Amino acid sequence: MPLMTTKPMFDLAYDGGFAIGAFNVNNMELAQAIVEACAKEKSPCILQISKGARKYANIRYLRHIIDAAVEEYPQLPISIHCDHGDTVDLIKTCINDGYTSVMIDGSHHPYDANVRLTKEVVRIAHAAGVVVEAELGMLGGIEEDVVGMDAAEYEKNVEKFLTDPKQAADYWQQTGIDSLAVAIGTSHGAYKFKHEAKLAFNRIEQIMKTCPGLPLVMHGSSSVPQEFIDLVNKYGGNMPNARGVPEDQIAMAARKYGVCKVNIDTDLRLAMTAKIREVFATKPAEFDPRNYLGPAREAILGMVRRKLHMLNSAGKADAVNAHWEKLGRPLPGYYSRKKAG
Ligand code: G3H
Ligand code: 13P
Ligand code: ZN
Repeated sequence: MPLMTTKPMFDLAYDGGFAIGAFNVNNMELAQAIVEACAKEKSPCILQISKGARKYANIRYLRHIIDAAVEEYPQLPISIHCDHGDTVDLIKTCINDGYTSVMIDGSHHPYDANVRLTKEVVRIAHAAGVVVEAELGMLGGIEEDVVGMDAAEYEKNVEKFLTDPKQAADYWQQTGIDSLAVAIGTSHGAYKFKHEAKLAFNRIEQIMKTCPGLPLVMHGSSSVPQEFIDLVNKYGGNMPNARGVPEDQIAMAARKYGVCKVNIDTDLRLAMTAKIREVFATKPAEFDPRNYLGPAREAILGMVRRKLHMLNSAGKADAVNAHWEKLGRPLPGYYSRKKAG
């Protein structure tokens, strides 16, 4: 089964009460653990690559690692997604690198500029058979206008950062995007809430009403499980007050609120770090990277499996493949060119 866009996945997820996990890939161990977990759980899967990942790993290496993953699991529906793309040039490069889905994040621009940028990306991506995610509203953590703002400050002002439902409808209509990343109280990283950890479900409901059928995306959706924070801290780390989105709220968003894609990066970092710290602390003589990266890869695998159950996507791979067949096995242009050439 070749790589596919997210369309066959979201078509089923929107009404099917599940969401696809989008996991960030930065190296071989992460890629291996994610796809192995998805294969074991028979779950569709989105591998996403940030600008930082491209810089860290060099996209040539990442591309070959991902090609190997696809080859290893030919029956697994996989999309390759550009996470937080910020310029038309980057998006064009990602399309030429074989991504099947791109995110243009113009949410920090004034609205009109965001619309213009997004429209241009949709024009280019759709011509290449690639789908587009875009964002409205402002998440905490890495986004420019709120960077440096702590969780308490973000929470105090959260209403003004949330996605505006009317604007979302106008944005969808003007740009023709395939999915919308919404700000509903989540933020990136391990320190998401100072006070009550609560998503703005009333806001998602309003967005579902103004944008019926539009697949929604939740960024900043790590749950930062306390047992992993405890392990990190037990073995020499220092992450006090780390806090994520409660898993039952993410599960509810996936089951009932049109959320088709859930972005998870921090929890994979935590699983990996906790295990490496444990090995170093309990076996101080260990110096073979395979003996700490191997257990770290196992820990990531366990974390991803847990997420696939939370998102209710376990067991949905065959249905997504069948839907993809029904749609005529659509391939982004990159793969058609490859086949033709
Ligand atoms: O949304 C942000 C992701 O967690 C990626 O983070 O830019 O450090 O790779 P990064
Ligand atoms: P977390 O930091 O909550 O894992 O969010 C990741 C993300 O949104 C990537 O785009
Ligand atoms: Zn994000």
